[in-house]
Amino acid sequence: MENYLGTAIDIAREAGALLARLFQDPQVISYKRPSDLVTEADRRSEALIVERLHRHFPTHAVVAEEGGGQRIDSEYCWYVDPLDGTTNFAHSFPVFCVTLGLTYRGEVIAGVVYDPTRDELFTAERGAGAFLNNRRIHASKTASLSESLLATGFPPFAANHDLNIQFYFRFTLLSHGIRRVGSAALDLCTVAAGRFDGFWELKLNPWDKAAGSLLVTEAGGRVTDLAGKPFDLRADEIFASNGLIHEQMLSVFAEVLAQKHGGQGSVKTL
Ligand code: IPD
Ligand code: CA
Ligand code: CA
Repeated sequence: MENYLGTAIDIAREAGALLARLFQDPQVISYKRPSDLVTEADRRSEALIVERLHRHFPTHAVVAEEGGGQRIDSEYCWYVDPLDGTTNFAHSFPVFCVTLGLTYRGEVIAGVVYDPTRDELFTAERGAGAFLNNRRIHASKTASLSESLLATGFPPFAANHDLNIQFYFRFTLLSHGIRRVGSAALDLCTVAAGRFDGFWELKLNPWDKAAGSLLVTEAGGRVTDLAGKPFDLRADEIFASNGLIHEQMLSVFAEVLAQKHGGQGSVKTL
């Protein structure tokens, strides 16, 4: 494979440094729709990343959140989130990252997530393992949901909040707790690094999850949808875990859904 990952790392580090600088300034917030924020930092980081990708890989498609990419016909496609954690950033809460994932014929083959606030660089190539600052990382060995630390997120608009609040409520009672980090890419890397045991979200875009999903599988974890079907980058939802608690969590999703839809599902104590 050409040095796609190396180039992506350089670009993510450069964009991350830009975000870290802009984070010192007062933020000017605009709205894509109510509660869906965008800042100057999103736009400037995206412009930098897209320019670099075009320069290095002129024949590749680039899909970037703020619309700056080139959706050309190519077997290679970069999914770019120039600032994952915009709401945190806009409120001066220092949890955000840059993420780039590369697909070949629809399959994620390389991914980078860079957190400039902690100088943590998460990287993966298909079949070559997952790394944090060049050291191999592995999903956790926690085998019981009751001893797990979990994470979820909510889209910046209302759709699906109702259902996810029910999942959130149930898993809060069944685990060590749930974190709402505000960056889906970092949530996935945190599962890959064995810090979280599971993460799910119902409404994400491909740029939120391309790199992070590869990190989790390369770290030995499992990624599916909420029904346990194979992960599809184009689908809204994602469920990632260390693999060991996957079935336990799938049965809780199923029970909550059955109850919501008037089914017979009883709430088990796992
Ligand atoms: C958001 C973050 C957040 C998730 C939202 C995403 P953005 O991305 O990943 O954690 O809960 O669903 O939209 O807007 O900060 O790039
Ligand atoms: Ca995002
Ligand atoms: Ca974003």
